[in-house]
Amino acid sequence: MICLMRRLRNLHPGRKFGLKLRSSSTSATGTLPETKCNYEDFIDNRQQQAKCSILVQVSSERSYPELYNYCSRFGSIVNAHHYCLRHDDELNYILLEYAREEEASAAIDAGGVTDEMSGTPVRSPFLWFRASTGKKKESISSSTMPHPGLLSIDGCRPIGQENLLSLLRKAENIDRQIVELHQNSQLNDLGVRMRFLAALQIQQSISGMFPSAQAVPFGSSVNGFGKMGCDLDLILRFDKERGAKNHQQTEPSRLIYHLKENLSNGRSQTQRQMESIGDLLHLFLPGVCHVRRILQARVPIIKYHHEHLNLEVDLSMSNLSGFYMSELLYMFGELDTRVRPLTFTIRRWAQSCGLTNPSPGRWISNFSLSCLVIFFLQQLRQPILPSIGSLVKAADADDFRVTEDGINCTFVRDLERLNFQSRNTSKLSELLLQFFEFYSQFDFHNRAISLNEARSLAKPDHSAIYIVNPLEQLLNVSKNVSLEECERLRIEVRNAAWLLESEVENSSSVKEGNEHPETIWGLLNLFKHPEKTIVRPNMFFKPRMVEVSDLFENGMSPTGTPPAGVTYKNPSIRQQVQNIKASTRNELKQMRGSSSSATSASAAAASSSSSAPTSSKNKRSR
Ligand code: GTP
Ligand code: MG
Repeated sequence: MICLMRRLRNLHPGRKFGLKLRSSSTSATGTLPETKCNYEDFIDNRQQQAKCSILVQVSSERSYPELYNYCSRFGSIVNAHHYCLRHDDELNYILLEYAREEEASAAIDAGGVTDEMSGTPVRSPFLWFRASTGKKKESISSSTMPHPGLLSIDGCRPIGQENLLSLLRKAENIDRQIVELHQNSQLNDLGVRMRFLAALQIQQSISGMFPSAQAVPFGSSVNGFGKMGCDLDLILRFDKERGAKNHQQTEPSRLIYHLKENLSNGRSQTQRQMESIGDLLHLFLPGVCHVRRILQARVPIIKYHHEHLNLEVDLSMSNLSGFYMSELLYMFGELDTRVRPLTFTIRRWAQSCGLTNPSPGRWISNFSLSCLVIFFLQQLRQPILPSIGSLVKAADADDFRVTEDGINCTFVRDLERLNFQSRNTSKLSELLLQFFEFYSQFDFHNRAISLNEARSLAKPDHSAIYIVNPLEQLLNVSKNVSLEECERLRIEVRNAAWLLESEVENSSSVKEGNEHPETIWGLLNLFKHPEKTIVRPNMFFKPRMVEVSDLFENGMSPTGTPPAGVTYKNPSIRQQVQNIKASTRNELKQMRGSSSSATSASAAAASSSSSAPTSSKNKRSR
């Protein structure tokens, strides 16, 4: 029975978990009925799963029987996954899950250090399996002991581009292509486990001083819109209530902790705390390297790379609304089985035509793109998703959430209570085409997009694209997007609509057995592909990346006088322009200064955080 519950827990977001499940009717796309899971239960279950897990570096997956035998002395192992990281060497890891938290703890407590290692010993779930010093006989017999098979081998390797394209070529129709794309590129169960283990490492490293601190993943790692290899967004929470909740007190305690009073305002306090936490990660946590502190940003973050998990992490302490936003996205994904495959396809299309870019800039972000998809699904004549306003209306006292900085994140959490059932039976391919057609005609110039009201509103300012931030309605989620990028989006959605139109109309002609697997058809037409060059009207735009300094320094004299050919009739305008240029030059100088010191700091971080070379550990391990 325990095993069955465990198996249920091992599933991916968007699939079933042990708690608060309900089944929905068969989806319009004809897939099997799905069950829905509450987000908080999903997070709690994954956190619990991480507490029951250890990650062990081994020489190859063939070490598994011996590792299983050795680690079984600490408790009952319920499952195991293998993955491999390829750098100069091949690094192999096995993630073991025990039935109970205490068993994983016992395994970690039994860990030791060797004389060969420098560095301060740190207790963590990241271990390596060294060669047996005992008799050879023991290791031979152990490898023949019965053990459950590995649930995955090389389990975090993303599908290769060629394989994916080949699958898409062979699919029966566009609907199947969309489903294949989603199923083969979404973050898998092992990917989610690895991300929750990274979170647990942060949490446990500070738990002595902050027993109620929680490091919780959010963003695409948990909202069901993440693809293999996606970054991990983490929030470190120091909620005061959680401590009391954890101790299951029935009445408020009369014993109150003495605290150190905050010495400065909230923001600089957070920045200083994050600086200390950054130092802690950089100096002590195994696997954590290339630590960068970006503390002046609107949401201060610490970025780092985890070398055992091959993961880029963004850690914040003050972005609780981002966390609740992920919950909203997760719920929308759970509400209808078409939402995630459609969003995946649109994200992939946007990436392939260069509308999105992994680094932030004046282009549309994946998050804004997801908002466009959700809005499109809300405003249909037969809506597939409800407005956020209706989620707020259906909330009760249990759903009340307000962040420390006063942002109201109250909306219904129990999907059962929402009682929303879409009557829209459109196929994925039809929705995809309608999405492109809808945004080809959308009046970005005058209208703002409101997911709260599921309708467009008059645009309150001159931003190129205005998407009302669902949780902070005075803000624009896509404020960063430039006019040029908005224009590119409009052109690309038109291109896509044009390319898809005839294919979707003919989609009744199912490609039986697909006699021409080499043909580029359906989604493949949408994704930029070397075999097919799409002529885009936007090819006449200037390159998107411009050195800001070029704009100011070209033709400018060292004293800041205007370049030849520019005359100002009004002397006060001339003065104003000169002042703006001078201050911008100063800012650029400062930015260059700080980025070069950040680079040297991160280089130092990178060099000092890898205390024992992983590859040499690998050679010593079994
Ligand atoms: P990728 O990292 O591109 O895979 O997608 P992501 O969804 O993780 O986006 P990102 O890392 O940029 O942001 C992480 C999460 O923060 C998002 O999923 C949202 O939940 C939240 N978020 C991002 N931008 C905003 C914003 O402007 N307002 C609010 N309230 N939340 C945001
Ligand atoms: Mg992210």
